[in-house]
Amino acid sequence: MRIVLLGAPGSGKGTQAKKLMADRNIPQISTGDMLREAVANGTRFGLKARSIMEAGNLVPDEVVLGIISERLSQPDTQDGFVLDGFPRTTQQALDLEELLDQMGTPLDTAVLMDVDLDILMKRLTGRRTCSLTGKLLNVYFSSQEEIDECRSAGGELIQREDDNEETIGNRLDVYRESTEPLIEFYRERDKLTTINAEGTIDEVYERLTAAL
Ligand code: AP5
Ligand code: MG
Repeated sequence: MRIVLLGAPGSGKGTQAKKLMADRNIPQISTGDMLREAVANGTRFGLKARSIMEAGNLVPDEVVLGIISERLSQPDTQDGFVLDGFPRTTQQALDLEELLDQMGTPLDTAVLMDVDLDILMKRLTGRRTCSLTGKLLNVYFSSQEEIDECRSAGGELIQREDDNEETIGNRLDVYRESTEPLIEFYRERDKLTTINAEGTIDEVYERLTAAL
């Protein structure tokens, strides 16, 4: 299964990709996670990407394409993959199409995760990551047990640098301007599946797997 998860910041791409990865044994490929890792490691890519990401703008197409083509050439992608946060521009989508055509492994589908703006804001401002386990949590939506589990194990709840209100506003604008056109891109190619991504994480996952 080769799929793209398409959706606004906070629509739950990372959350659902991790569930699919665990269930179907295919890798989650998140350009956001890979770029954050490059920033944390202080690599050449990372130094370039840092200020762009902190402002909520897009890293240049050729940089992410380089990261993706290297990642897709690794053997663990043979049985499929979930792309999370890529492509985000029409150019990236065209490049991905070409790359997968060359590999003889076209995309099965692009799943649009549909969520209302007010819910996105709450998901993004409330998002935290457990410093110990890396688990994605949310101060508004996670259960007290999940939050306590992290803290009592000695973990801390870390907030992403770009999850402040100002940057979130810009990320949502950038999404509308640069990424939303991909809905039409995949619809024209008969590859678009839309799911309602509101409700609990398990409810969304059920809709996602039913759609796949
Ligand atoms: P990236 O890391 O991809 O961020 P994003 O697209 O803004 O999306 P998010 O990760 O914020 O949201 P998500 O949909 O994964 O939601 P999540 O599952 O975490 O990109 C970051 C930056 O990197 C970009 O701004 C750009 O600079 C750069 N970049 C990355 N890719 C790029 C590319 N291709 N080209 C150029 N630049 C690129 O969920 C959010 C929260 O909600 C969590 O707390 C979660 O617990 C909670 N939640 C999830 N689902 C539910 C639910 N059903 N109910 C209740 N809470 C839920
Ligand atoms: Mg994410």
